[in-house]
Amino acid sequence: MLATNQSDWQPNHVPVMSDQVIEALHIKPRGNYIDGTVGLGGHTRAILEATDNKCTVLGIDKDPQVLKIAKKRLSQFGNSVILAQGNYANLEDICNKHNFMQPDGLVLDLGISSFQLEQNGRGFSFLRDEYLDMRMNQTDSISAYEIINQTPEKELANIIWKYGEERQSRKIAKAIINHRPISTTGELATLVEKVIHRRRPSRQKIHPATLTFQAIRIAVNDELEQLKKTLNIVHHLLEPKSGRLAIISFHSLEDRIVKNHIRDNSSQKPRNRWELEERTSPLWLQISKKVIKPSANEIHNNPRARSARLRVAEALPIMEEIE
Ligand SMILES: C[S@@+](CC[C@H](N)C(=O)[O-])C[C@H]1O[C@@H](n2cnc3c(N)ncnc32)[C@H](O)[C@@H]1O
Repeated sequence: MLATNQSDWQPNHVPVMSDQVIEALHIKPRGNYIDGTVGLGGHTRAILEATDNKCTVLGIDKDPQVLKIAKKRLSQFGNSVILAQGNYANLEDICNKHNFMQPDGLVLDLGISSFQLEQNGRGFSFLRDEYLDMRMNQTDSISAYEIINQTPEKELANIIWKYGEERQSRKIAKAIINHRPISTTGELATLVEKVIHRRRPSRQKIHPATLTFQAIRIAVNDELEQLKKTLNIVHHLLEPKSGRLAIISFHSLEDRIVKNHIRDNSSQKPRNRWELEERTSPLWLQISKKVIKPSANEIHNNPRARSARLRVAEALPIMEEIE
């Protein structure tokens, strides 16, 4: 059932790849960790439990409604948890504000939570008919309604292609333009279902509007740009010799950004003469060259985990810091 109100939400919440995240962060008993996507607090709880509540976690989330629930769910940990509403892309300001310097690790569990997907009135799901919203932070000015109803056709097709990798993006954008205004998730889902044809059987298993909804959600929340911005600043915020970065992505667009960032800034052998000449001090030590996937057991118990991919890196000191 998908009708969920904040007040009656009693989640039996299991964070994705929790054991692997704890191992990846190489948790130190009195360490300081940032959970940049605190959500309902699953990873924060796991970090605190792993250290018998001896470390401190700064938990950040864009969504004020989610944070209220996290606050209740994490109250038993007292001062070991600091919660902050904000965007992880503004990590530097948030750390400064809370005097949280040189943390030992950052975990990001990207995207939206099942709580947000299933909560009434958020407009993330095509399984319910409600206002097209999709904002993680409902005080942001641009919702899915504005993107769907105000974006020119070509730009809309680009969004659906770039963020949804939807091959029929042009057809969908054209249909949207011809049927505007579109106010609800139900109207959008029905329209997309009508206009697209799935030839590949693998794609027929998912709802025809899945990729379009993913694309619009990513655009509304500027998800990929926020991730790139964060990757560019996080190294100099972490503890320079051992700070760990652990990022869980749920689709290839996010995973590619993380993978390329770590690969391009890690201490690998140069692949050719040009790379050798261009080489600057590496930022990361790649902890696991292969992406880490959830176990078959976890996927069995929590099917949502099936597309999760974890990448891990350790901050290296930069040359000036060594000298
Ligand atoms: C997959 S959920 C995290 C679930 C969490 N790890 C747990 O165990 O409950 C992702 C969360 O990150 C938040 N989020 C997504 N992008 C964000 C951003 N740029 N800044 C801060 N929070 C963000 C979402 O609002 C959502 O609550």
